[in-house]
Amino acid sequence: MLVYLNGDWMPAESARVSAFDRGFIFGDGVYEVIPVYGHRPFREAAHLARLADSMAAVGMVGQQFAIRWPAILARLTDTLRSGDGSLYLQVTRGSAPRQHAFPANAPPTVFAYARPGDPTAGAGFEVAAILCDDIRWGRCDIKTTSLIANVLLVQEALSRGADEALLVRDDRVNEGAVSNVFAVSAGRLLTAPRDRLILGCITRDVVLELAAELGIAVEERAPSRAELVGADEVFITSSGREVAAVTRIDGAPVGSGVPGSVFCRLHTAFQIFKEEVRMGKRV
Ligand SMILES: Cc1ncc(COP(=O)(O)O)c(C=O)c1O
Repeated sequence: MLVYLNGDWMPAESARVSAFDRGFIFGDGVYEVIPVYGHRPFREAAHLARLADSMAAVGMVGQQFAIRWPAILARLTDTLRSGDGSLYLQVTRGSAPRQHAFPANAPPTVFAYARPGDPTAGAGFEVAAILCDDIRWGRCDIKTTSLIANVLLVQEALSRGADEALLVRDDRVNEGAVSNVFAVSAGRLLTAPRDRLILGCITRDVVLELAAELGIAVEERAPSRAELVGADEVFITSSGREVAAVTRIDGAPVGSGVPGSVFCRLHTAFQIFKEEVRMGKRV
């Protein structure tokens, strides 16, 4: 596998980063994952805008952080033989003697690679979830590599026989550990607004666009725990899962316990949308 590291291209086995890299020492980095369909990075501009927002939010500003991503992404995408895969991009605050304050002159560490294969392989159309306290910090809108809380939450879900943890803060279900969450009640979608408590997500935005096209009403408000558990349908969205039905929460069936009709309409619309992206008819 060919990877990009700090301006050079090399086989993954040859890529080396300092043990004093702040990404390693502090988790002081941000990242993006971009699905690729038919050699076309999905919503590249939106992903790069989110990366720029994450960098600005953590003070990665200035000339040393001006990275020419489109050329890097084009070369990575070319390495995907089937045309499908995903791109991973990461920027850390570089390598410097360990101290919390930003280093004065450290160049960032910029890393990127392409993973071949269906971006959603093994993700599943139907998933089981658990409810967990949202143990993350207060800036969930920043896509940071400091993912220890998300790691623990996903592991908790897996250890309890589920696929995803849905996160509750002040009785509101804002999002999942690695996904956004939607409840459906009386044909209407309920999902958390884009604020600091969720990652402003690309798949979520596409689903909201598709809902508008299908005439499905949407309320951008985080459902309460009771609203989520009592919903007719629940589903999650992410680049890796696209749109997946949550049919069990904490072991109990959601609605009738099978993927619901609103979910199925959106899932179908998403598949059509993706094929149109692949053919260059939509972005
Ligand atoms: C916490 C969190 N929310 C939501 C998402 C979904 O984001 P996207 O649709 O942009 O992949 C992710 C994806 O990694 C995530 O980590």
